[in-house]
Amino acid sequence: KYMMATIDTISNHPQLSEQTKSLISTALNSFEENFSKEPCAVALAPGRVNLIGEHIDYCDGFVLPMAIDRYIVFVTAPNDDNVIRCIDASLLGEPAVEIPIDCDLEISTPKWANYLRGVVDGYFKKGMVPKSGFDVFITSNVPKGGGLSSSAALEMAMAFALKVNGAEDSQSVSTEQRALISQHAEHTFAGVPCGIMDQFASAFGQKDQLTLIDCRSQDVELVPFTDESLSIVIANTNVSHELNDGEYASRRQQTEDGLRILAKPSWRDVSLDEVVASKEQMDELTYKRSVHVVGEISRTIQAAEALKANNSKKFGELMKSSHKSLRDDFEVSCPELDTMVDIALELADKYGVLGSRMTGGGFGGSTVSLVASQNVDSFIDELSSLYQQATGITPEIFASRPATGAQAIGM
Ligand code: ADP
Ligand code: GAL
Repeated sequence: KYMMATIDTISNHPQLSEQTKSLISTALNSFEENFSKEPCAVALAPGRVNLIGEHIDYCDGFVLPMAIDRYIVFVTAPNDDNVIRCIDASLLGEPAVEIPIDCDLEISTPKWANYLRGVVDGYFKKGMVPKSGFDVFITSNVPKGGGLSSSAALEMAMAFALKVNGAEDSQSVSTEQRALISQHAEHTFAGVPCGIMDQFASAFGQKDQLTLIDCRSQDVELVPFTDESLSIVIANTNVSHELNDGEYASRRQQTEDGLRILAKPSWRDVSLDEVVASKEQMDELTYKRSVHVVGEISRTIQAAEALKANNSKKFGELMKSSHKSLRDDFEVSCPELDTMVDIALELADKYGVLGSRMTGGGFGGSTVSLVASQNVDSFIDELSSLYQQATGITPEIFASRPATGAQAIGM
């Protein structure tokens, strides 16, 4: 009976696309095949793309991401054991991962399951334990390691799987708290000292809305993105340079060094003039990183204003400046990302490309472009074939409108 109600809710869900409904329906069937019983509930969480505001979520900045119409889906039902037993569609044939529900957890193997362990442990440490163990079948159409926050989606889906299995029954947990538990999991179980952007975007996403996040106050403002004549195109370069973790942490460190030299409590209190005035006291790298941070905070504020004023041309220009700053001053781009952005901008007049930039942590992953909707299919085709000619790599390119955030359905 749970199942019928769940299927009904999914098929009538006003915020889920047909593509996502079909992903869920495949996942429901796979659950039954793999666990030989009926599923009870579904938890799902989207990846995200950031339109502007890069590498400033850990600098008290503003960021403007959105949840994308790509999800990680957890189908679940209680079991009689004291473990969360997970089977992943992309890793069929590997043994199921078992995570105990009633003890402190540690980093372990397989590595991918650390994102899950981190969330379960975060709940456990707050005294929140599911009513029983449960089984999970995981299906995803968020590219893994494509800079679109598949790991944040994994974490947020686990938070909702815990919720539907009773872990939140003893206390009310806000969207923000769930996102912060997930961020903490990433810090402690994956070793990435990330900011709040990815988990907040996955948690607070709404259909047709961008999420403007003030990373100092952690307030989220929804900014409508409803102009059908504009499309957001995401282009996964399909490269991921392994530099990522160390480089990410070093960028974070360099911004902290910069702020210390500026002797200010927060990057939000720093102007470009003040950075320039402190140039002599900084080494060259710290100076360049600082120029990026203050510039990007200002660009993000301007971009949100431009969007509210329907000034998409200005928005696109700000995206282009953001890319240059990430490439030259923050140095987190890579040849493949630059090639993808350069080609998109070379096609600007032909297809109405307003702006393009790398998105996410960098060193590979994806770009995001703002494009006239009437040309979007031809743009994707040509961008794809020119990128392939230039690099020998087949990219994955698709359009997405802002999508609904992490949630549970059923039970
Ligand atoms: P990104 O945010 O660019 O997608 P991350 O490095 O943050 O990259 O997360 C990628 C990691 O998340 C993968 O290496 C894998 O461990 C895990 N992951 C993502 N999607 C899945 C999935 N569908 N199944 C299992 N693990 C996944
Ligand atoms: C991501 C990280 C985010 C954010 C982003 C760069 O990889 O998880 O918190 O810092 O890089 O904007």
